[in-house]
Amino acid sequence: MTSPLRIALIGAGVMGRQHHQHLQALAEAQLCAIADPGPQAADFAAECGVPYFADHLQMLEQARPEAVIVANPNALHVSTALDCIAAGVPVLLEKPVGVHLDEVRELVAASERSGVPVLVGHHRRHNPLIARARELIEQGSLGRLTTVTALWQVQKPDSYYDIAWRREAGAGMLLTNLIHDLDLLRHLCGEVRQVQAITSNGVRGFANEDSAAVLLQFEGGALGSLTGSDAVAAPWSWELDSGENPVYPRQADQPCYLLAGTRGALSIPQLKRWHYAEDGAGWHQPLLQVQEGFDAGEALRRQLRHFIAVARGQAQPLISAADAGRTLALVEAIRQAAESGQACNPEII
Ligand SMILES: NC(=O)c1ccc[n+]([C@@H]2O[C@H](COP(=O)([O-])OP(=O)(O)OC[C@H]3O[C@@H](n4cnc5c(N)ncnc54)[C@H](O)[C@@H]3O)[C@@H](O)[C@H]2O)c1
Repeated sequence: MTSPLRIALIGAGVMGRQHHQHLQALAEAQLCAIADPGPQAADFAAECGVPYFADHLQMLEQARPEAVIVANPNALHVSTALDCIAAGVPVLLEKPVGVHLDEVRELVAASERSGVPVLVGHHRRHNPLIARARELIEQGSLGRLTTVTALWQVQKPDSYYDIAWRREAGAGMLLTNLIHDLDLLRHLCGEVRQVQAITSNGVRGFANEDSAAVLLQFEGGALGSLTGSDAVAAPWSWELDSGENPVYPRQADQPCYLLAGTRGALSIPQLKRWHYAEDGAGWHQPLLQVQEGFDAGEALRRQLRHFIAVARGQAQPLISAADAGRTLALVEAIRQAAESGQACNPEII
């Protein structure tokens, strides 16, 4: 039997600890070290019974992990992942892949040149219901995808903004939250050719946006809208609707994405599909509803299993640095469109 893959954790905050919880449940891998300069990290490493390092370079040199999970602050993602690549260690890198497109290009080049894989943590793609939705779209169950409606509408408690950096420019919900929805929309509906956007900080009054309305034109021809706010008492968001994370009380009957095509429509996460009994029917005939089946599954744990296969050279990353770079480029185009009032095209990574 293969021995468990030795995985180190760089950044043991909220997200790093979630990864650790899932790691504990897997027999095929084990935590081997923690690197984090923060005040609680040494105690956490002691609790986990693994060596502690304040500095990740020392950790890479001394603990010699076979793979690394990077869950440190966004601005450190690329430089840390580059250090791991230089040490020849495959990386599961939390989202966003980076904060600037140029640094992401550097990361993509380093990963491709060295052959050391990077998997980016857009974990929702690992949810089996997303795989099933993608399959339905690819099989043509919706016909030609025509309109896409996406919603991310939640109430973050005021205390969320007690932490100073969360109130500052660049740290808004576009990069923190809507990036997940935009990544899924790319995954399900294809690349986005052009965006228009309006953002507002009208509710909270901080430097970054609390609400956004985005128009999307997909390369396949579909048109979409994404409306988001973290300052509304509303039930429409992946967090509340998907039940993926039990910390968010679930609104199981509410959708967050509505995809409509010439032959059918699909609500996500419910995976209810609507269609007419016969081609050529119209709004005077009954629209039939089908409940599509899918295996329930834990996206973060599935992501970790996939990462272990990637690190062992048995799979290609489901979300490479280049792929995640295109999601970041989409966020950047939305930001530019909101600032300029002009339609913008996402850069190609
Ligand atoms: N996939 C998701 O749904 C999801 C959810 C939340 C956060 N995240 C991502 O995870 C990352 C961490 O977010 P968080 O909420 O856990 O933040 P956090 O502040 O709780 O944790 C960050 C940790 O990184 C440590 N750190 C700081 N500098 C470091 C360095 N030089 N080397 C190693 N560690 C260092 C901090 O001490 C802290 O323990 C972010 O990139 C965030 O975008 C992803």
